[in-house]
Amino acid sequence: MGTQVNRRIVLASRPRGKPGPECYREDREAVPEPADAEVVVRVRWLSIDPTIRGWMERDTYLPAIPVGDVIRSGGAGEVLASRRDDIPIGTRVFGMVGWQDYAVLGADTPVLPIPEGISYEDALSVYGITGLTAYFGLEDIGKPRAGETVVVSGAAGGVGSIAGQIAKLRGCRVVGIAGTDEKCDWVVDELGFDACINYRTEDVDARLGKLCPDGIDVYFDNVGGEILDAALAHINLHARIPLCGAISTYNDTEVASGLRNIRNLISQRGLMQGFIILDYQERFLEAILQLGTWVADGKLVSRVDVVDGLSQAPAGLSRLFDGDNIGKVLVAVDEP
Ligand SMILES: NC(=O)c1ccc[n+]([C@@H]2O[C@H](COP(=O)([O-])OP(=O)(O)OC[C@H]3O[C@@H](n4cnc5c(N)ncnc54)[C@H](OP(=O)(O)O)[C@@H]3O)[C@@H](O)[C@H]2O)c1
Repeated sequence: MGTQVNRRIVLASRPRGKPGPECYREDREAVPEPADAEVVVRVRWLSIDPTIRGWMERDTYLPAIPVGDVIRSGGAGEVLASRRDDIPIGTRVFGMVGWQDYAVLGADTPVLPIPEGISYEDALSVYGITGLTAYFGLEDIGKPRAGETVVVSGAAGGVGSIAGQIAKLRGCRVVGIAGTDEKCDWVVDELGFDACINYRTEDVDARLGKLCPDGIDVYFDNVGGEILDAALAHINLHARIPLCGAISTYNDTEVASGLRNIRNLISQRGLMQGFIILDYQERFLEAILQLGTWVADGKLVSRVDVVDGLSQAPAGLSRLFDGDNIGKVLVAVDEP
């Protein structure tokens, strides 16, 4: 691809604690040519997900990013060169593009066309990993029933804001937990949650007792740690707890202490189940159709938190851990 240059943000060192500038290095290489069955994508948007921090440090459900490799990340853009008959030049696609201007996808990495009429932002938020995680975590594991009480932590974030709205659509009483009054106001006033607890200024245990007088039937956990422990103290008989994420612990350098209220799971016959959204790939279409119906009917709101410029991707990741975002964090990739 001639003289064009591919800017890449690569992993310079593994994080200990919160990832700092020492973890990243920007380098440049020639834009690659596609091999057989591959496409080259001009990356326009990056999906910034907390799991990237885990991939930077160690093997998880995917192998750790090798030091020196581009930071692994979902994203989207248009096909610039193609050696796939089914994906012509100009097709808008998403996939694991990485933090760079140009990505090669197709042979080993899935490349998925974005349907006409769906914006890049929606493809990476409500119809992307974020919305799908909220949908399957809540519907498959949480199984909310009308009249039940659902509590969602990380309530103003990408996943939490959608999970809470789905619980409302299922006829539940929904209590959010978030880190600022502005976030709490947003989920109550704009998204229709019944109440929201600011965990930084309020006693979560006491407030859950007050706001969930009939106990908690579903706790959708995005944060782990002390907030999970507080929720466990209030669970009802046969409560369901989808363990979606534990962001409060991702930067820990030592293993956190255990949960004091875990034994309530026994007496209440509760179910606490972790999940990884990639396991639901065969059912993504089902979720996208349902989410799309709710969006089209004006029943589901999706908000994005956009960071400008490829070089700002590390700052975008930091926003998640500093609680600076409302909605799904995306990077709008600039021109090289
Ligand atoms: N299982 C899966 O397959 C899967 C897939 C996608 C995402 N996830 C998980 O889902 C969760 C949400 O992901 P997301 O992409 O939607 O991120 P997000 O919720 O948009 O952003 C992360 C939020 O976490 C909150 N947070 C940060 N540190 C915290 C702490 N110490 N205690 C409590 N809250 C804290 C912040 O909000 P506050 O201001 O409210 O603190 C921040 O806005 C993450 O745990 C992620 O790992 C899991």
